[in-house]
Amino acid sequence: MRDRIILGLESSCDDTAAAVVRATPGNPCGEILSSVVFGQDGLHAEFGGVVPEIAARAHAERLDLVTRAALVEADLALGDIEAVGVTAGPGLIGGVLAGVMFAKGVAAGAGLPLYGVNHLAGHALTPRLIGDVAFPYLMLLVSGGHCQFLAVEGPEEFRRMGGTIDDAPGEAFDKIAKLLGLAQPGGPAVEAEARKGDPVRFDLPRPLMDRPGCDLSFSGLKTALRRVRDLIVAERGGLTRQDRADLCAGFQAAVVEVLAIKTHRALEAFAGLHGRSVLAVAGGVAANGPIRGALQTVAADAGFAWSAPPLALCTDNGAMIAWAAAERMAVRAPDGMDLGARPRWPLDTDATPMLGSGRKGAKA
Ligand code: KG4
Ligand code: ZN
Repeated sequence: MRDRIILGLESSCDDTAAAVVRATPGNPCGEILSSVVFGQDGLHAEFGGVVPEIAARAHAERLDLVTRAALVEADLALGDIEAVGVTAGPGLIGGVLAGVMFAKGVAAGAGLPLYGVNHLAGHALTPRLIGDVAFPYLMLLVSGGHCQFLAVEGPEEFRRMGGTIDDAPGEAFDKIAKLLGLAQPGGPAVEAEARKGDPVRFDLPRPLMDRPGCDLSFSGLKTALRRVRDLIVAERGGLTRQDRADLCAGFQAAVVEVLAIKTHRALEAFAGLHGRSVLAVAGGVAANGPIRGALQTVAADAGFAWSAPPLALCTDNGAMIAWAAAERMAVRAPDGMDLGARPRWPLDTDATPMLGSGRKGAKA
């Protein structure tokens, strides 16, 4: 077996991304030759959330540009590429469709094998792209659209141990920011405010603690915070800077505690199945300092090693899709030109579907 150079394409939400990754037999991880992400924050800012039609159009317009940029950055031509991996779901269907159609064009035009990749598998396999992490390990995926604990048992074997029954935590951070008049995306803004606040001034709930297992819920927390805000506004006509900081600190402390306790439970359940291994995190929320710190402590206390990708690989990118395609290549034949785009695509098909669909698309 020789090296494989794979082009990875991602367009399932609001980032148009392409990357070139080299997978070398015998090397436990991959080598990222380039990774380019064209974000869309500016296009959606005035709407307070991702507008699917605008996202789909922007992906369709930019996929060729981002691919060219990734090839230039890797100093390669299309002729050097040996396979194309593309996110085929889950996500906003217009964007996924744009990516799949573009990837089919590239694959057919250049005579390359095509691999449809599950976006969540891309996140879940990232620890193996960047390090020597063996199966099985526990992944906590915490982003604006997803929140789930996955036992990653093989390139295509995932066991969902728990997940959110309503909002994803990033979605909650974004909504809280909107409620308090802070900038989007809300996570970094709320984290910055929280540094100046008192986390115990307001008594906010820790949802779903009484339920055994590691399912999570964040929408009640958001509602509780809105009530506190409305009460202050009704009594005093508005929020002071300190009120805002204290609300952010209280909210963040609640999320930290909920994630820490549920992660502890997930680690115990995982250890019961597979023994102690690695806790890996991915998704934009894993960029949050206090959340990351708490999870790292929980992992160490439970005797697990820790794997957290650099931020650029926590959030959506093409490298994780190229790597997931490389992992798929080892175990299955390429997809055909009938590859479809799937708005929903649970990684663990045996698990009961989680409720609802988030602001950024289907949750599981
Ligand atoms: O993984 P990601 O880039 O995109 C998807 O949702 O797929 O995650 C973006 C989410 C947003 O909701 C954003 O507010 C949140 O991650 N986020 C954070 C932080 N940085 C980004 N949440 C909390 N603290 C942060 N520092
Ligand atoms: Zn993602």
